[in-house]
Amino acid sequence: MSIKVLLVAGARPNFMKIAPLYRESLRYPEIDCRIVHTGQHYDYEMSQTFFEELDLPQPHFFLSVGSGTHAQQTARIMTEFESVCAEEMPDLVMVVGDVNSTLACSIVAKKMGIEVAHVEAGLRSFDQMMPEEINRLVTDSISDYLFVTEPSGLEHLKTEGKKEDRVSYVGHVMIDNLLHQRNKLDEMSDVNFATSGFKSQHPEYLFLTLHRPSNVDNREVLSEIIKTINEIAVDCPVVFPVHPRTRKMIDSFNLELSDRILQTAPLGYMEALHLWKDAKAVLTDSGGLQEETTALGVPCVTIRHNTERPVTVDQGTNILAGNTREGILEAYERSLSRVREQYRPPEMWDGRAAERIWTYLLEKESFRTSRRIAV
Ligand code: UD1
Repeated sequence: MSIKVLLVAGARPNFMKIAPLYRESLRYPEIDCRIVHTGQHYDYEMSQTFFEELDLPQPHFFLSVGSGTHAQQTARIMTEFESVCAEEMPDLVMVVGDVNSTLACSIVAKKMGIEVAHVEAGLRSFDQMMPEEINRLVTDSISDYLFVTEPSGLEHLKTEGKKEDRVSYVGHVMIDNLLHQRNKLDEMSDVNFATSGFKSQHPEYLFLTLHRPSNVDNREVLSEIIKTINEIAVDCPVVFPVHPRTRKMIDSFNLELSDRILQTAPLGYMEALHLWKDAKAVLTDSGGLQEETTALGVPCVTIRHNTERPVTVDQGTNILAGNTREGILEAYERSLSRVREQYRPPEMWDGRAAERIWTYLLEKESFRTSRRIAV
């Protein structure tokens, strides 16, 4: 008798989180883990390239939901995922992160009486203008098992009244993946990416990503950010893989970027890592990069007013800049004086989070006995 788990991913930041979970599941004969890709992200550069690079097999189920408004996308994921659950009758649905696929699949599972595990639980920005904050709150409120990446997550779940025996601090599966990929990169004898020429030409450069609706969907805001980056680029060249949402907005607002900024299509994981790990600083509004830069001690300027990942600021290399010219320039200046060696990764960001998650579930009396798994 095995435990059947559906492991859900939908958007780019999910793929690096499910990779170590899936890989590690193969070490436990009691676990039968199957990947569900909702198709929230579908372009080759936003999806397939990650399956190839992250040692993931093709998904067992692909739901092809595509883009839409939040309601359309969430509804399509729910309808399609309900059919998969009805056919597969899993023992557990495991969701990661905070995207619309996380929310949609946790609701479907819970309403079908299937237990839900949320990996990366407890993060809060306290900003409900962020769709991800709503996804986090709802998913955590109905999850049966909550796996936490940083101390603030434990505090929030406690305040929200979650039972302690359902919450476990395990470290971060995204850092499991980062360390795995960095080792692979170190072992590669020949690294030849499209951006390798840029990297070898510029001993110092910055790495930029931008995609939050609050930064890119409004003309004034995006225009101020781009003008500020153009100014910074005079000091140091910038490489900028452009998210499809951001590409659309830059084009429709007719914004001009300095020729000291190398714009590329979205990059695969390895190529992006190859660039940002050696960057003088990273400028970003991504959640994951705030953590990945902290794990490797790379200075990070976060173009947001808040973060749901405060350990990266309190203990790591992250500086919150806001999204005004003044804030970004001030944070950039500060980031340049950061010394990489002074930073230590947060507790348990050591590459073993996935192992802790499966061990926790298998050792949990209630989880095992309800599935008649022998001790
Ligand atoms: C989503 C997540 C966000 C995450 C981000 C990472 C939600 C609410 N948001 O935001 O938390 O940080 O992914 O990238 O789940 N598009 C393409 N090709 C694709 C995917 C999207 O062109 O493969 C375009 C479409 O025009 C789409 C737009 O990008 O409308 C936004 O895609 P969507 O999945 O809605 O949200 P993201 O901004 O990518």
